Amino acid sequence: MTVELRSDNAASVSPAILEAMTAVNSGSALAYGGDEVTAALESRVREVFEHPTARVFPVLSGTAANALSLSALTPPWGSVVCHETAHILGSEGGATSFLSGGAVMTGIAGEGYKMAADALQAHLDGVRWGDPHHSQPTVLSLTSPSDYGTVYSVPEISELTGIAKTRDLRVHLDGARFANAVVATGATPADLTWRAGVDVLSLGATKNGALSAEAIVCFSDAPADELVYRTKRSGHVTSKMRYQSAQLLAYLTDDLWLRNARNANDRMAELAAGLVEAGVRITNSVDANLAWVDLPDETADRLDAAGVLFYRLDGRVRFVTSWETTSEDVDTVLAVLRDALT
Ligand SMILES: Cc1ncc(COP(=O)(O)O)c(C=O)c1O
Repeated sequence: MTVELRSDNAASVSPAILEAMTAVNSGSALAYGGDEVTAALESRVREVFEHPTARVFPVLSGTAANALSLSALTPPWGSVVCHETAHILGSEGGATSFLSGGAVMTGIAGEGYKMAADALQAHLDGVRWGDPHHSQPTVLSLTSPSDYGTVYSVPEISELTGIAKTRDLRVHLDGARFANAVVATGATPADLTWRAGVDVLSLGATKNGALSAEAIVCFSDAPADELVYRTKRSGHVTSKMRYQSAQLLAYLTDDLWLRNARNANDRMAELAAGLVEAGVRITNSVDANLAWVDLPDETADRLDAAGVLFYRLDGRVRFVTSWETTSEDVDTVLAVLRDALT
């Protein structure tokens, strides 16, 4: 028996996505995104985001989506202001600096792994604007859900983007798990993004049931016009793009993305409730599909021995549920845990 709680990246691919890839696998189609599936994807994104001119760039990884988005939003001398635990800052090997030609990332503090409005304001107030010795903040990048499973509400996003816009910063949202944020907040995709001041979204899909596809969604033309070239020169304009687009189109069809994310969030809620009942301390607010918990080593060892797969990171145990986690999986983990703790 194994129960997979290491990462939603470890989950398999939703059958509907594989079927969609098979369905487009007949005959020829124009290469490099000139195909009908890619056009249909853009139309679907415009519907889902209630934005008639949104533009979409399918890419191959979340890191590429973030680094390319940000490179189209900042000049090389700019600074991308993000939370101090942001994935772009600590976990992407400097991809944003690389693809932007040298922009730096500046980590801002905030409780609950979310940027605090007063900390952002204080940072912007302390910048020597116009002084070339000082990196000039050009982009605000938020991550929701964060790597610690916490989700920004619409008012929280709006407050931060409002502060950023007073200094003409553009706004990026790392939505590697965006569907989980939509389900967690109950807000519309539009309210969580462009209506709250977001200019470019990294829309994740791979963690939530796709095979190898993420999308950059631009809500204005300026970054999109640059991305036409930036995606190509970084090797992200796949020749057989219809297969990337088919994944993303299936993902956004019949609410597959939301159904998958709802399963992940609901299973995590069940797990978190059981952990709390068993007296285990969870160190994050469990808003989506991640829990970071304090677990004695011996208890973690027992889970390990019972076939529960999870990571020990930063002195804590991390559990991540996915679109394919079942209630039986959760029950199994909780049974082993209760046994180990008594
Ligand atoms: C919040 C967040 N952003 C971006 C990424 C990057 O995605 P990828 O691993 O596909 O490059 C991850 C992956 O773990 C993530 O958790």
